[in-house]
Amino acid sequence: SVDSVVQGERRPGSHKGFVEEMRFVAMRLHTRDQAKEGTLEESALPIQEWHPSQKDYLQFLVDSKYVYEFFETFMNQSQDNMFVHFKQTGLERVPALEEDLNWFKQRGFSIPNPEKPGIAYVQYLESLVQDKPHALLCHWYNFYFAHTAGGRMIGRLMSKLLFDGHVFEFYKWEGDVKQILDQVRVKIDETAKDWPRDVKDECLKETGLSFSYSGTILGHLAK
Ligand code: HEM
Repeated sequence: SVDSVVQGERRPGSHKGFVEEMRFVAMRLHTRDQAKEGTLEESALPIQEWHPSQKDYLQFLVDSKYVYEFFETFMNQSQDNMFVHFKQTGLERVPALEEDLNWFKQRGFSIPNPEKPGIAYVQYLESLVQDKPHALLCHWYNFYFAHTAGGRMIGRLMSKLLFDGHVFEFYKWEGDVKQILDQVRVKIDETAKDWPRDVKDECLKETGLSFSYSGTILGHLAK
């Protein structure tokens, strides 16, 4: 479990930097069918068996956008030194998602409101702003990085299944996303380098919640 990793004596990845620690905890929370490094049992419904409707996919985009809006507004407005590096990283997804929602509108879909999965996650994130701002970095990391990894793979599958292979803006970044991720990794390590051990651990411990909330949003597709 995450707790056993976080509470254990060794902190895998810590010799490299904090991103590596967060990545290690995250990879363990994948199922074995999701990623090679996953340790959890196979999920109830493997991705290959997901058969959502176009409307489900649209709802997934809407809920995702609601969460990205929280992060991007928060980062832009935050006066906290901790977050200065995360204002315009190149990973931002709201403008891309707006274009994708327009694509749906042009095809006669009406754009729904966010549903419970997105709303509950944002509510939770808002509660961290005052009480545990460090923990927000873990959620931010997982939400943005997951999307560039498993998220992209899911996007390709859904697109083939539902939209004749149309590539949504959600899956396009300006420039090479690998380079952007590397730059962001440096920023995260820089930000967390002087955090005391207990603050780092508090942040790492959020990984589980990050997975469960993201999992509810993916639930729009896993049907
Ligand atoms: C990385 C799959 C859900 C967080 C990855 C990788 C794969 C993957 C294949 C790349 C592993 C590698 O570097 O070799 C999936 C699939 C998912 C899923 C299929 C769901 C069906 C999630 C969720 C989260 C998450 C819900 C957290 C909210 C991460 C993170 C990385 C990662 C942080 C590391 C990215 C990096 O180092 O650049 N995932 N994942 N994943 N995933 Fe997931």
